Amino acid sequence: MDTHIGNDIQIAAALLEAGELVAIPTETVYGLAANALDSAAVAKIYAAKNRPSFNPLILHLANTNQITDYAFADAMSLKLAHHFMPGPLTLLLPKKEIVPDITTAGSPKVAIRVPDQSLTLSLLNRLHFPLAAPSANPSGYISPTNAHHVMDGLRGKIPYILDGGNTKVGLESTICEVVGKEIILHRAGSISADDLSAFSGLTVVNATNAQINHTIAQSDADNQPATPGQLKSHYAPHTPLYIGNIPQLLQDHAGKKIAVISFDTEYTGATNFKLAPDHQLSTAASNLFATLREIDRLHFDIILAEIFPNEGVGIAINDRISRAQFILK
Ligand code: TXA
Ligand code: MG
Repeated sequence: MDTHIGNDIQIAAALLEAGELVAIPTETVYGLAANALDSAAVAKIYAAKNRPSFNPLILHLANTNQITDYAFADAMSLKLAHHFMPGPLTLLLPKKEIVPDITTAGSPKVAIRVPDQSLTLSLLNRLHFPLAAPSANPSGYISPTNAHHVMDGLRGKIPYILDGGNTKVGLESTICEVVGKEIILHRAGSISADDLSAFSGLTVVNATNAQINHTIAQSDADNQPATPGQLKSHYAPHTPLYIGNIPQLLQDHAGKKIAVISFDTEYTGATNFKLAPDHQLSTAASNLFATLREIDRLHFDIILAEIFPNEGVGIAINDRISRAQFILK
């Protein structure tokens, strides 16, 4: 199959209506979309990505008014939706019958979001169904932040990539779930736990503490989080990545061809990839995945990464870097 890149939402809509896959831009990362209500179309997503069948997909809607067509939503979830969407927030809610089991990988819950990207919102507005879309990368590799990243991973497997340029946020959406008087944070993103608690007045708790500490080799039992996609080894570049004190790590790995990922510090004895010359965490977030891909392409022996300021989107950056880490199996 030939894969084309373009910005024609009519072509994208026609393919999706015919049950085909289309990669779509969002404000976070590119998604690999299909008609979420068509089991056969959704099955193609799992096949193209080589995604395990137990890992559910996010439903992408044109607007928050559609949420209750597909899910049962409590008042607080709707409040969060109306405040943060369109935007990089995904809500986990009890699903309605109309959502096929394959879309939620058999789960009684469905993950829902309204992406903040103009081309994709126009596309969603034109369609008569929601789009199921995981990140548009082969399972296990780094999420794509532009159309060329999608092409690199899925060339020949999908007919069309809708090109919306570089994504704005650069990290996948925050995933949360309202449970009683708490919000469970299933995945960190640019909307932080502090943002959620400040708006809602609720306590925000991490889904599992085990998900925070990825530094130690994991047993299979540890690798079964509530959001199945949150496996410890994830978002991984091919080049081994180590995190910590860079001068010390540079000494430990002397003699190797080393790439260093930093906020904005220059280290001697390595090739430097500074994510945020402007010292903004949001800039670092938007550059992280493209930089990891670039380093893979340049064939370094290892990547050393700083720990970023652990506040706001810095928490999500540290989460992704720690998942990209080299883990002894
Ligand atoms: O920003 C994003 O969320 C991007 C763009 C394309 O929208 N999408 C994305 O999808 O990151 P994906 O499939 O790569 O990650 C979705 C995560 C996975 O960890 C998955 O396990 C979890 O959401 N998830 C989806 N539906 C779920 C459900 N019903 N229950 C629990 N976890 C769910
Ligand atoms: Mg993904």
